[in-house]
Amino acid sequence: MNLIDTINKDNLPKHLAIIMDGNGRWAKQKGLLRALGHESGTKAVRETVETCAKLGIENLTLYAFSTENWNRPKLEVDTLMKLLIKSLKNELKTLMNNNIKLITIGNFEKLPSSAQKELSQVISQTKDNDRMTLTLALSYGSREEIVSAIKEISSKVKNNIISIDAIDESIINQHLYTQNLPDVDLLIRTSGEHRISNFLLWQIAYAELYFTDVLWPDFREKDLYEAIISYQKRERRFGKTSEQIK
Ligand code: IPE
Ligand code: IPE
Ligand code: MG
Repeated sequence: MNLIDTINKDNLPKHLAIIMDGNGRWAKQKGLLRALGHESGTKAVRETVETCAKLGIENLTLYAFSTENWNRPKLEVDTLMKLLIKSLKNELKTLMNNNIKLITIGNFEKLPSSAQKELSQVISQTKDNDRMTLTLALSYGSREEIVSAIKEISSKVKNNIISIDAIDESIINQHLYTQNLPDVDLLIRTSGEHRISNFLLWQIAYAELYFTDVLWPDFREKDLYEAIISYQKRERRFGKTSEQIK
């Protein structure tokens, strides 16, 4: 039996998020430049996106560049931005063929204008696609996102648009970059690191976490299936007892 046949299509994560890590180490192991690791990582992105759409996952969020990644050497940052632009140009067809909508979360204004332009085009061209929403976290930091939400809410309170008593979890959700996305059900991190690195802190409150040693450029269809199968074997209790769930 194929691995894919063991996946229960009725119990897929509604929102899958992935911390795509290990490009640099992948390149180093092969005696290559880090840039080649990133380039190779884009192939894993394409395969993962296509597999998720094929499976029926409605929301896929990929951590592509963090607020902290701006502190990397300028050459690496420039390479990553160029690679982003190139991938957007190349992959528009993949997104259209698979009926995938692209959106971004993060500090859009901080991205180079050439990247902003390319992103805006792809976002607008894919806006009516409705099989899957692919969210790219770019120049994204969860703490920055929370700070910005607090500022927006405070300003609405100050201007009597909402009252303090009305602030609840739903109001906070509505002011995060992820306002239209459901909570994360499954979070995958590759490369053997067991940390969150400022990704979707609020949204992963009850996510199942899955860590694999596979480096991102080596991440294949089979690795994704294994993560989903692991997810489907778990009992999500949300604070209740096992008996209450059954
Ligand atoms: C992930 O790979 C890509 C980005 C963070 C942009 P890394 O570049 O972090 O690879 P490692 O962790 O150095 O191996
Ligand atoms: C997290 O990876 C960010 C992305 C995958 C885009 P990092 O490689 O930047 O994380 P740390 O620095 O190891 O925590
Ligand atoms: Mg890393």
